[in-house]
Amino acid sequence: MGVRATPVLDRRLAIDLVSVTERAAVAAARWRGRGDEPAADEAAMQGAHRELMRTSISGKIVIGEGVLGEVQRLYLGEAVGVGGADLDVAVDALEGTTLCAKNMAGSISVLVLAERGSLLNAPPVYMEKIAIGPGYPQGVVSLSATPGENIAALAKARGVATSDITALVLDRPRHSALIEAIRTAGASVKLITDGDVAGIIHTTNPRESGVDIYLGTGGAAEGVLAAAALRCLGGQMEGRLVLDTDAKRKQAKALGIRDPSKVYSAQDMVSGDCLVAATGVTNGPLLNGVRFGRDTIETDTLLMRAATGTLRRIASTHRDLERFVAEG
Ligand code: FBP
Repeated sequence: MGVRATPVLDRRLAIDLVSVTERAAVAAARWRGRGDEPAADEAAMQGAHRELMRTSISGKIVIGEGVLGEVQRLYLGEAVGVGGADLDVAVDALEGTTLCAKNMAGSISVLVLAERGSLLNAPPVYMEKIAIGPGYPQGVVSLSATPGENIAALAKARGVATSDITALVLDRPRHSALIEAIRTAGASVKLITDGDVAGIIHTTNPRESGVDIYLGTGGAAEGVLAAAALRCLGGQMEGRLVLDTDAKRKQAKALGIRDPSKVYSAQDMVSGDCLVAATGVTNGPLLNGVRFGRDTIETDTLLMRAATGTLRRIASTHRDLERFVAEG
């Protein structure tokens, strides 16, 4: 995958990683369909935090749930783990909070471990994003091209008509012109209400997902998480932070961002090896949601590594229910 394998990301960390997203997903899943977004979020954060603190790393949260004061755990700069390799941690304990609260498809828990200093420290702003899966010439689509040009270039590279291209877009009023442009170019638009990390991952498997390209503006943190997944699965992505006020530019500068209009590739956002885990909370096309049985809890997780391109699917059956009940 063109990424150097690093001994600091020992494969054995994978189980630690999976335990974090499994725990967060189970905690969030107890709040599925209850209409209480803060409670679902809080449960996921608590679950993720508890497990992260047990991992064998010296981790630093660089993409988290907010700043200290706004949130009590998983805040930017928080040190996590019992000690081990110095790693950057990017976490979204519950990606698609609304999806979980409404028990709609596609909410997941996501965690990335990466070499220290290799993740873009994105401020809490929006990011313009474009992403496609593997197998295309480098640079075939770009944020500097119009949606119509991107659709045409992608169709040509695939050897199909533009009408055979499907673009995934977050269903937001800010995307009305974008949606219009994609349709005018002859492509089909598939709308999602939330969850663009999973949305971008879908571009890596168009046969299954029916999605060829992701376009639009979503959270910058989610952009970095998605870039990490693409580093593992292949594909191309560009992101540009939306720094449209002085306050946001100042915030970005404080995080080391010198050029506010820089276009980041997936490699710029995640510059080295990384491990990524994503566990389903609600059922979705990417992952099954948590299943609660009488004596067991079942979880479904994707685990990926950039350096090797390995994709593992981990179906876990948890029997130690007392632990889950006692610890939430
Ligand atoms: P949360 O889980 O934090 O609610 O994020 C869900 C999400 O849909 C992301 O996937 C996406 O990047 C972002 O929100 C879009 O932001 P907005 O809802 O403000 O359009």
